[in-house]
Amino acid sequence: MQQLTIPRPDDWHLHLRDGATLRAVVAHSAQHFARAIVMPNLNPPVTTLEQASAYRDRILAALPAGSRFEPLMTLYLTDQTSAEQIEQAAASGIIAAVKLYPAGATTNSAAGVTDLRNCTGVLNTMSEIGLPLLIHGEQTSAAIDIFAREQAFIEQVFMPLRERHPDLKIVLEHVTSAAGAKLVCGSDTNLAATFTPQHLLYNRNDLLVGGLKPHFYCMPILKREDDRQALLEAATSGHPRLFLGTDSAPHPRSAKESACGCAGCFSAPIALGLYAEAFAQAGKLENLEAFASRNGPAFYGLPVNSETITLQKCSSPVPETYPGGDEQIVPLRAGESVAWSIA
Ligand code: NCD
Ligand code: ZN
Repeated sequence: MQQLTIPRPDDWHLHLRDGATLRAVVAHSAQHFARAIVMPNLNPPVTTLEQASAYRDRILAALPAGSRFEPLMTLYLTDQTSAEQIEQAAASGIIAAVKLYPAGATTNSAAGVTDLRNCTGVLNTMSEIGLPLLIHGEQTSAAIDIFAREQAFIEQVFMPLRERHPDLKIVLEHVTSAAGAKLVCGSDTNLAATFTPQHLLYNRNDLLVGGLKPHFYCMPILKREDDRQALLEAATSGHPRLFLGTDSAPHPRSAKESACGCAGCFSAPIALGLYAEAFAQAGKLENLEAFASRNGPAFYGLPVNSETITLQKCSSPVPETYPGGDEQIVPLRAGESVAWSIA
């Protein structure tokens, strides 16, 4: 297969930031994706409907003229979030989901949830309304090895959560381990999962061998090759509740190339080509359409986009940097090429 036309995809996990960075990066997502679930981990985090609504207005104002890109907003769950706030947010029509960051797991997660049992009322309300909980699935206690955090989260937090709230719609985001892949492949209808391009194409050797490569550093961290293979097999299998979420997470170059570098890979401009590479590598290009364009809308109860987009097997170079507002942003694959591009 050299060419593939699919309904315009959506990105079910995206960081757009704010201010000058937002204005510099949003067009890359709007160019290829019709909608995106926008992450609320700004500083300060987007915890209220008013904040989400104002943020949505800033995103719409930053779009290129004529763009019909639709930001689907999320609320950042805290120990203090109330059931009433959730009801109002859901009724507003602009909040598509609620995001769980375990406190301390990743960029701007300090205000996250310290113990999910503090959120029982909120989760009951979400189950009743059908509002999905998006989970950054890492157990953050200091004793747990960083490469084992996802598996520990599944065992210690996720499984008990499923038992307490069997009707809650959950997206386990950016699955990165064989344990995570196994869990989501055997899931019931309330559980979906997203996969990033970097976790389908790279392992921890790409991050650590031959020198530290900060632009491969993201949370959850890249894992072993057998994990990557399990993720690739799951994501490309055609499973109806596994879908695309880039986790494109721009940081200024100086914040990445630092003695204490930030987690996050910027992939928005090339993400679709990277996913096509991954599906081609697995010999499953025919399943890219479901993963990129159909499974996400089905889970969220939204229509499949009516426009189409055509991918072709045609290598295109990746710039060393993209303008990022105040500073340059180094993308995934900087200075290399992607084997698939958008026609
Ligand atoms: C994200 C960011 O930079 O906001 N970083 C990352 O490594 N993925 C946060 C997140 O999704 O974990
Ligand atoms: Zn993210």
